[in-house]
Amino acid sequence: MRPAWICLSQNAHILYLIFCLCHHTQAITIQVSGNTVTAPVQGSALFSVDIACIGTPTVRWMFSSVSRTQRIAAWVLGGSANVTQMYEGRVQTHPNGSLTISSLRLQDSGYYIITVTEMSGNSKDMGLVLSVTEVLHEEIPFLVVFVIVLATLAAFLMLCVWLLNKLYRFIKAWIQRRCLPGNKLHLPLKLCSRIFYF
Ligand SMILES: *[C@@H]1O[C@H](CO)[C@@H](O)[C@H](O)[C@H]1NC(C)=O
Ligand SMILES: *[C@@H]1O[C@H](CO)[C@@H](O)[C@H](O)[C@H]1NC(C)=O
Repeated sequence: MRPAWICLSQNAHILYLIFCLCHHTQAITIQVSGNTVTAPVQGSALFSVDIACIGTPTVRWMFSSVSRTQRIAAWVLGGSANVTQMYEGRVQTHPNGSLTISSLRLQDSGYYIITVTEMSGNSKDMGLVLSVTEVLHEEIPFLVVFVIVLATLAAFLMLCVWLLNKLYRFIKAWIQRRCLPGNKLHLPLKLCSRIFYF
């Protein structure tokens, strides 16, 4: 028979295990549909998150890139948001913890970190990547002008070739007529014999 304290210690272990499991299932979860968001310059990006936790959490969004780290907004879900001055007017906070940034610039590319903090102090982070892409529309007029210039040049060259060809035929015919025997302005025989073969 085992001593009573071993049984007790085993029970304590089981209790501890149950506590851990419960604690684990009660942990904060942040679900995202994708870790990368791609949006064009001047467009807007929605960082959509689905938060599950105990009570009403505080949500904080931070921006982090190679060159800087910046707070964007913080709010208690359901309350009004505290938006950092430099993001005022182009950041929209949603009641579900999601964030929308509009009027995007290339410098907005980087990591966006959401921190969800419960009343108890438990917190969890989640990182999302934003990739801001340049719009190619600005280059299209330039390309169109370039193609038009090339086409005009080609048309002009073709016209030149056509005119030169006409001119050549006209001169040849004119000379051949002059070479015909009996023509008043008969050209020297040596020249005529050459001309008939060019
Ligand atoms: C959160 O709310 C925003 C705005 O209402 C919505 O566009 C987005 O889909 C929501 N996200 C989730 C995961 O429900
Ligand atoms: C809101 O902004 C003020 C000033 O920028 C700051 O002191 C405060 O800590 C912010 N509140 C939260 C919840 O981040």
